[in-house]
Amino acid sequence: MQTKHQIGILGATGMVGQRFIQLLENHPWFEITWLAASDRSSGKRYEDAAKWRLDTPCPERIAKMIISPAETDGAPKIIFAALDADIAREMEPRFAAAGCAVVSNSSAFRMHPNVPLVIPEVNADHLHLIEDQTWRRESGGYIVTNPNCSAIGLVMALKPIQERFGIEQIFVTTMQAVSGAGYPGVPSMDILGNVVPFIKNEEEKMQEETLKLLGSLNGDSIVPLPARMSAHCNRVAVEDGHTESVSIKLTKPATKEQMLAAWAEFKPLAGQDLPTAPAQPVEWIAAEDRPQPRLDKNRGKGMAASVGRLRPCGLLDWKFTVLSHNTIRGAAGAAIVNAELLLSLGKLEPLALAASQA
Ligand SMILES: NC(=O)c1ccc[n+]([C@@H]2O[C@H](COP(=O)([O-])OP(=O)(O)OC[C@H]3O[C@@H](n4cnc5c(N)ncnc54)[C@H](OP(=O)(O)O)[C@@H]3O)[C@@H](O)[C@H]2O)c1
Repeated sequence: MQTKHQIGILGATGMVGQRFIQLLENHPWFEITWLAASDRSSGKRYEDAAKWRLDTPCPERIAKMIISPAETDGAPKIIFAALDADIAREMEPRFAAAGCAVVSNSSAFRMHPNVPLVIPEVNADHLHLIEDQTWRRESGGYIVTNPNCSAIGLVMALKPIQERFGIEQIFVTTMQAVSGAGYPGVPSMDILGNVVPFIKNEEEKMQEETLKLLGSLNGDSIVPLPARMSAHCNRVAVEDGHTESVSIKLTKPATKEQMLAAWAEFKPLAGQDLPTAPAQPVEWIAAEDRPQPRLDKNRGKGMAASVGRLRPCGLLDWKFTVLSHNTIRGAAGAAIVNAELLLSLGKLEPLALAASQA
């Protein structure tokens, strides 16, 4: 049996870090050998430092691991990063400069012109941008990012439509789960029985990331999709799963049957055998009151975007609802499938080889 690639998690104790640990247990290609977090946690056993918040037990081997300082010495060459943006901005480049592939969840570098912002089903070709990163040329290291947790579900639903009919305008209103704010996140007194119509920088991120993700690679840069877009972002009293109400204006007219066919036939990774990629990335639910976060967030093991309620829009052409799991498809799962894609393209092998020969 082929040995697994050693990976590390930066920010291992947080909401997204815990999802990495959960999703990577028994992963066929990757094995966690290094965990790092802040100075508050380093030197402690994982079970003593992390307040485990997930509904499956923390794997015993991980619980006993000692958390390392967030430094490059001794870190493996493949790093999943789940740090706040301010910390990521300073820390991720250090790991890339030290020859690591940094597969990041944070917003710090998503909009950097040389950093790919990738959903494998949507824009795998954008990975070409890593070849232009100085770290890549000097040490082999690089940074790849996955999108904001509300942009990802939206873009998965839009991509098959955009490919077939073109999209000129996007109007979206989100209802975002509290786990999207990390732990402990939004104070209970603010969110119970309430809706908070503001998430700092979220609307800007959704707009710019959506257009970059749906944009096209032109030489060494990305030309954003030339569509107009408006996002309204709200925090709601839901634990996991971001729900979004979407209206779109198309370039070419499409019937409901054609829209449903575009979603059903959207299987761009078929045959690539990436272990975490869902067989059906966009799942249509015909029931008139779905998707709902409690009932549908785990479709495709939390990696699918569920769509429903497709109907004509009085302002634009069509409107529908999309739901995706914010800490699986919107965070840790997104990074893992990015790393699987990088491995399948041979972009992790030289790093892992260099580490094993060091
Ligand atoms: N939650 C989501 O749905 C979601 C979705 C997409 C993207 N993201 C992004 O993913 C990132 C992590 O989010 P989260 O929700 O997991 O946050 P979180 O629960 O607050 O966790 C933050 C992690 O960063 C560590 N950390 C803090 N300061 C550090 C430092 N100076 N050096 C090293 N590690 C440090 C923390 O360690 P300690 O425990 O030691 O403090 C913890 O492990 C953020 O950029 C977020 O925007 C989150």
